[in-house]
Amino acid sequence: MKVVLIGSGGREHALAWKISQSKLLDKLFIIPGNPGTKQLGENVLIDPNNINEIVRFCVDRKIDLVVVGPEKPLIDGIADVLIGQGIKVFGPTKNAARIEGEKSFAKDLMKKFNISTANYEVFSSEQYKEALEYLSNTNYPIVIKADGIAAGKGVVICDDYKSAQNTIEDYFIKSILGNAGKKVVIEEFMSGQEASVFAITDGNNFVLLPPAQDHKRIGEGDTGKNTGGMGAYAPTPFVNDKLMDEISNKIIKPTLNALNITNNKYVGCLYCGLMLTDDGPKVVEFNCRFGDPETQVILPLLEGDFLELLYSAASGSIKESVFYNGGASVCVVAASKGYPDKYDVGKEIFGLDLINDKDIIIYHAGTKEQNGKILTNGGRVLGITSILKENNLSYAKQRCYEVLSKINFDGIYYRRDIADKALK
Ligand code: AMP
Ligand code: GLY
Repeated sequence: MKVVLIGSGGREHALAWKISQSKLLDKLFIIPGNPGTKQLGENVLIDPNNINEIVRFCVDRKIDLVVVGPEKPLIDGIADVLIGQGIKVFGPTKNAARIEGEKSFAKDLMKKFNISTANYEVFSSEQYKEALEYLSNTNYPIVIKADGIAAGKGVVICDDYKSAQNTIEDYFIKSILGNAGKKVVIEEFMSGQEASVFAITDGNNFVLLPPAQDHKRIGEGDTGKNTGGMGAYAPTPFVNDKLMDEISNKIIKPTLNALNITNNKYVGCLYCGLMLTDDGPKVVEFNCRFGDPETQVILPLLEGDFLELLYSAASGSIKESVFYNGGASVCVVAASKGYPDKYDVGKEIFGLDLINDKDIIIYHAGTKEQNGKILTNGGRVLGITSILKENNLSYAKQRCYEVLSKINFDGIYYRRDIADKALK
């Protein structure tokens, strides 16, 4: 089978690594890929947001399956165009991708179908005064979310009215997020452990992957700004089998059903971000794709043929071709100093050639190759990932940091407390 994978991050390196192990694979193209994916298939220099060019490439090369990594092409409708050309796609259509692309769509769907989530109100920029009025009569902290996608920068937790007012002004008046911030969801603050659960689905049936926990904040102890994710581990002990059943029956199943009966049938990976509250699991957000860095720890724990899983889902009849058979994995993201704000790129990465351990994968994210050297090329640069056969999270963590001590680049930054919450 000929497969195209779209994207260039650590998630895509992990997807390429897993897909490349499939017996069904003849050829893997990655658009545009990174120096890590180059070892596993052929990188093709096309802009991942240039839908027309991607579709042309897929038609020309008679591609059997397209796996879409990032949300933007999905939200822009790449699946619809590919399906229109008779090409199978792992990833939802434009309408279904609104589950991530329009937070108010996701919230309204959950409300209508009784799926547990934070209470909320929606305001558009024309309702500036009403939004402030609402915010002056509510309890704090409160969470303000831009309705559209904002590269992880659209969610602000406000501790008081002043900060809420500033956020509303930033979005409605200063338009710092453009159109994405012209509508907001204002929702109740929830506390608890967070967990990420991925459902792989053909639109009707689904397969759940082992639950993971991400570390969204830049600073140790979950302090500072939100990022794309600074590290993850799986499986998380915060989601035991009983809780997984509850998540499956009360959240995933009804959500897919709701999408189905509202004519938004969803095919792909439904990423369910959860808050495990005292009142049970509640949805923080849905994403229309695999999470990053969670994918970097979940995929190595799967046995079986992952490509078969994706292909069968995209073909409309999912086959449970992967399973978790024990093991633990930890991923620590090595980032550029300054991320998630401004950072430098082009710094040489040292030490990669020293790592040749069977229990370690170094995923590339923001890297590039130049004159035989690997240089930094993004905020999140590498995902240092350990994979153990036994479910020993503490040792998995230790292995990551042992390896990280051998890797260096100017301005390297990483959190030293990945997986600690589960180890306490
Ligand atoms: P999101 O982009 O919706 O996942 O939000 C980013 C992060 O903000 C989440 O991973 C949570 O840590 C936090 N967050 C979002 N919504 C809430 C909420 N209602 N209560 C508490 N924290 C939240
Ligand atoms: N790790 C969070 C995300 O992929 O959105």
